[in-house]
Amino acid sequence: MLKLERINSYYGGAHILKDLSLDVQKHEVVALLGRNGAGKSTTMKSIMGLILPKSGTITYNNQAISNLASHQICQCGIGYVPEERRIFADLSVEENLEVGRRSSQTGPINWQKEDLFDLFPNLAERRTQRGGNLSGGEQQMLTIARTLMGNPSMLLLDEPSEGIAPVIVEQLAKAIKGVKAQGLAILLSEQNMHFARLVSDRTYIIEQGSIRYEGSFSDLDQHPNIWKQYLAL
Ligand SMILES: Nc1ncnc2c1ncn2[C@@H]1O[C@H](COP(=O)(O)OP(=O)(O)OP(=O)(O)O)[C@@H](O)[C@H]1O
Ligand SMILES: [Mg+2]
Repeated sequence: MLKLERINSYYGGAHILKDLSLDVQKHEVVALLGRNGAGKSTTMKSIMGLILPKSGTITYNNQAISNLASHQICQCGIGYVPEERRIFADLSVEENLEVGRRSSQTGPINWQKEDLFDLFPNLAERRTQRGGNLSGGEQQMLTIARTLMGNPSMLLLDEPSEGIAPVIVEQLAKAIKGVKAQGLAILLSEQNMHFARLVSDRTYIIEQGSIRYEGSFSDLDQHPNIWKQYLAL
């Protein structure tokens, strides 16, 4: 569904992503694991056209997207939730969701607010409250829910569990599984191995801008040296 082939991305003269290749199949949840500064967010930004890779190709449903503008990439059906949660603090939860509504439908379902309240019960309880009054975890849920209102066929989630209380992390994992069950593909970056293990079908490990490992968590468990080398803090 999404395929990156030998991507090279730079910030100015700094070579960050080095021949990075990965793919995400339909209905798959893939976790991109790696330490601080490994290149996870740069990978997401390269997919979304926020950074223009100097070489390599990115295709989505067999269509080249590497030369498209960010809004066109969204229109292709990729919903992006960046690291920093961008909710509208002065709008209510429901109003925040309305802001995300798109008439087009590229994904498998045409989300309505009530579907999202089923998926994120915490938001349902707080539907009339200001976004700014939500906890960090609830704001993360709201950002994901608002992105789903655009009816994407795939989600990119950049460290969704970062800075979120453990109990909310569990709820978020359940919601992610609910999104997958609706037929969406998901690429998420993570440093929280517990969360990544709960939700993902497959993982890649990125270090210094290159993919060093690909496999499931059960494969990874057989390779403690890889854990130690690329993931242990
Ligand atoms: N705007 C920028 N200008 C220059 N260098 C940058 C910029 N943003 C990130 N970098 C560098 O690019 C590398 C990869 O950063 P990136 O943000 O992709 O890492 P990450 O895996 O998302 O890390 P984190 O877990 O901290 O979010 C790092 O060395 C970082 O210092
Ligand atoms: Mg990052």
